[in-house]
Amino acid sequence: DKEMTEEYTQLPMIPEINTLEELTAELRKIFEEERINVEHVKAVLGAYSSKPRDWRKYAKFDPHRYTRNLIDTGNGKYNLIALCWSEGQGSSIHSHADSHCFVKILDGDLLETMYDWPEGEDGGEMKAKEMNTFGKNGVTYINDSMGLHRMENPSNSDQCVSLHLYSPPFQMCKCFDQRTGHVAEAKVTFWSQYGKRTPFKVLKKQDRKRHV
Ligand code: SIN
Repeated sequence: DKEMTEEYTQLPMIPEINTLEELTAELRKIFEEERINVEHVKAVLGAYSSKPRDWRKYAKFDPHRYTRNLIDTGNGKYNLIALCWSEGQGSSIHSHADSHCFVKILDGDLLETMYDWPEGEDGGEMKAKEMNTFGKNGVTYINDSMGLHRMENPSNSDQCVSLHLYSPPFQMCKCFDQRTGHVAEAKVTFWSQYGKRTPFKVLKKQDRKRHV
């Protein structure tokens, strides 16, 4: 037990991280290890001070919904994604496919509303259990054992850009209807990858899945 505690209280030295590129390189190194120390990853994300010139090429906004823009796949260990939220845009309530989900704010504010998993199918209205707003350079973390969340840009005058790291990467997650607790599978998509618009494919109706 003591060994475990020491392992988690003594974080490795955090190097100076000046750019998003340096952050990406450090994250790749950390995720080569078998075990992930959540506090270590949070500290590394916290050590980077956001500079728009680093991430401008990933910051693509859409007037209708928030966009997900792939930055790095971390040698297959994770997806590092810039999410761009126009004024008032938000996700649905969703789960994280048993992955670690780290979030760092690059610009603006992001409001996280936490929910418990509904009891059973269509478990009825889902009540918010906690709300937290994260400002520029703020860092947070969630996994399925902590519950579900909805993320949104609470501002009606400012955009928000946030950096999300999901490990292991996932393609599908669960979306919940706040009023009924009804659950549906949702596919996660990328608006752009490495700074380039994902080619648009018209999907057959039966292949269309809901988006987070
Ligand atoms: C999140 O899970 O933190 C945001 C939603 C998303 O990845 O689309």
